[in-house]
Amino acid sequence: MRKIISLNHHWKYAEEFEAQFLEPDYNDGAWEKVNIPHTTKEIPYNYFDEKEYQIISTYRKEFTVDRDNMGKRIFVDFGAVMAYAEIYLNGEFIGSHKGGYTPFSFDLTEHITFGEQNILAVKVDSTERSDIPPFGYMIDYLCFGGIYREVNLRIVDPLHIKNIFAKPQNVLQENKEVETTVFLANLKNQAEEIKVKMSLSKDGTVLATMADTVEVQGKSEKKIDLNLEKLTNIGLWDVENPNLYDLTVQLQRGQEIFDSFTTRIGFREAIVKEDGFYLNGKKLMLRGLNRHQSFPYVGYAMPKRVQRKDADILKYELGLNLVRTSHYPQSTHFLDRCDEIGLLVFEEIPGWQHIGDEEWKEVTKEDVKEMIERDWNHPSIFLWGVRINESEDDDTFYEETNRIARELDPTRQTGGVRFIENSKFLEDVYTMNDFIHSGGDEVLRDQKKVTGLDNYVPYMVCEFNGHMYPTKRFDQEERLIEHALRHLRVHNAAALDPNISAAIGWCAFDYNTHFDFGAGDRICYHGVMDMFRIPKMAAHFYSSQRNPEEKAVLEPATLWARGERSIGGVLPLVIFTNCDEIEVIVAGELVGKFTPAKDAYPGVKHPPVIIEEIPSTGAWGSSWYSAEFVGYLDGKQVVSKEFVKNPIPTKLLATADDLQIDADGIDATRIIFKLVDQAGNLLPYSNEPISIEVEGEGKLIGPNLTGLIGGCIGAWVKSSEQSGRIKVTAKTTSLTSEPIVIETIK
Ligand code: GAL
Repeated sequence: MRKIISLNHHWKYAEEFEAQFLEPDYNDGAWEKVNIPHTTKEIPYNYFDEKEYQIISTYRKEFTVDRDNMGKRIFVDFGAVMAYAEIYLNGEFIGSHKGGYTPFSFDLTEHITFGEQNILAVKVDSTERSDIPPFGYMIDYLCFGGIYREVNLRIVDPLHIKNIFAKPQNVLQENKEVETTVFLANLKNQAEEIKVKMSLSKDGTVLATMADTVEVQGKSEKKIDLNLEKLTNIGLWDVENPNLYDLTVQLQRGQEIFDSFTTRIGFREAIVKEDGFYLNGKKLMLRGLNRHQSFPYVGYAMPKRVQRKDADILKYELGLNLVRTSHYPQSTHFLDRCDEIGLLVFEEIPGWQHIGDEEWKEVTKEDVKEMIERDWNHPSIFLWGVRINESEDDDTFYEETNRIARELDPTRQTGGVRFIENSKFLEDVYTMNDFIHSGGDEVLRDQKKVTGLDNYVPYMVCEFNGHMYPTKRFDQEERLIEHALRHLRVHNAAALDPNISAAIGWCAFDYNTHFDFGAGDRICYHGVMDMFRIPKMAAHFYSSQRNPEEKAVLEPATLWARGERSIGGVLPLVIFTNCDEIEVIVAGELVGKFTPAKDAYPGVKHPPVIIEEIPSTGAWGSSWYSAEFVGYLDGKQVVSKEFVKNPIPTKLLATADDLQIDADGIDATRIIFKLVDQAGNLLPYSNEPISIEVEGEGKLIGPNLTGLIGGCIGAWVKSSEQSGRIKVTAKTTSLTSEPIVIETIK
């Protein structure tokens, strides 16, 4: 049977490269010991020189392969290395790979010394080489360096399964089917006849099986088609009930099963049509945000748990049904979680505005292939982005990227995100960034104006807002509200336009960027959440669209202070909520009951409540009062929120995403520290110093002495390789948080 052996632990790392580092007997004893995912260099939160991590570095890893694996083939599989990797085994050059977002593998067998130590050395070039997409011009994001996704050894029979592409068919009929292509490789000289078995199961229960006998020639690759038919009682995959099934293919020689490959699939039909997006035949308005995969300090190098958490934040905190993986293929852990929770995905190839020369384009074509072959079984992915984001037209190039995508995967539509009008429509879905809204009456363009076509075509808006209105979490209230309202206006307009299938805002999280972009501090403050995934007011618009039965949301967009806004007061008061009625009480007196502004925003499911007049919140120089807001659903009180007139720091709250993580020196979880007032509300203008102490079996990612950024800050804590406890306590000048204790388990 195949064995997958993690190579993620105990690498040696040098922030430089010399030819002698590749030699097997080079003494790397003084090098830093690191685990994967790893970043070439940790950077500060902001104001750093982005050249710091753009280096050529070296990674070395010792490993042994037992003698009983002789006769097998030994592959090394890299999840992703930014941006160019050269692989050496025991001093011999094995191969190289260009491109920092897709996986690659090499066959090490001929160079392995079985039963003895082998040295894998990787030269990693994380500079912005103009021969590799997205590089060659400017880019509004950073491509952090290093071996930042997992590395495994894969030990297989010389005749083995390379990949599987499972295509559920007739999904809307009672009898469903799975058409499967199995990609076999035979690396030995002899031909062989084997049995190939396939089964479909759910939660360990086998639902259907089939088998076939095939002959595979020596030194060859073979594609075989296997179908499972007449499948009944299959639950569909959709955004509410994302049913998943396991498809397993096994190879049998005599009585022995010698290879097995399982992939997870879902039965669903997802199509963008001229008049909207249809999931399993039902129209669904797509509400999404763009996600960059970067994090403070370590850039891209975050483990599985943290990748999965992002999907949860998008789905459960922000109530989205769609994410675009701007602007590159993202972690399979993130995508797995999207499958599990029913979050649709638009995945695209790496690139940003610039198209390079022929050699560069060849790498892009490889990117299309590597992305699709890695991800074609994810039911959450319904669209492949096969253009360089926002590039000019290049028909020959894009006809080719479309051809590759369609040939590899005839089951999904293609898109390709542009910002130019009248761009040649070569894809199946016209995917457009529409930044027309800048606060005025114009919110979205008619698609015919954009496409220049006479007829309507499948059409999605893939970005809006972003640089049109950068907003920090600790900006003035009026700006935060306008930021939120711009997101609301675009989603409202998109939902009212029958020829727009999706509105995907720019963007989910603030991100580090080059000095040519952002606020000069190397951050683009374009997120509805900050880099720690802490919400701004715009996030409350999104979360207020959630089903109130899952969570009642009541978020008055105010700090409730006399003099925060221009001229003072809190009017008009916008309250993001999914309740059907809000009661407002000021200074202990009922002001009134208010309902959502359905006339102003008929397109969204849960428009905000907007209050134009509240007595006692008037003129500059009058007294200020406390307030309370109560939310009702079907006449029942479901949620409330209080504001005090005179906030003072009362507590340093600490909350962890997880209280148990793996004791593997890789796993990590986030803790958020928040300075709050008497009513538990964040004090968004406090920049007090904060020190974070981590004791026991873990360590902090990032600095342990820092300042609150607008009243709060996040931090990730990473396990050691010993099981035990991690205790985390934070202190400001006057307050100490309750300790958080995280158990780490082997
Ligand atoms: C778009 C681009 C994004 C981001 C955004 C900011 O043009 O595709 O990557 O830069 O602008 O609004």
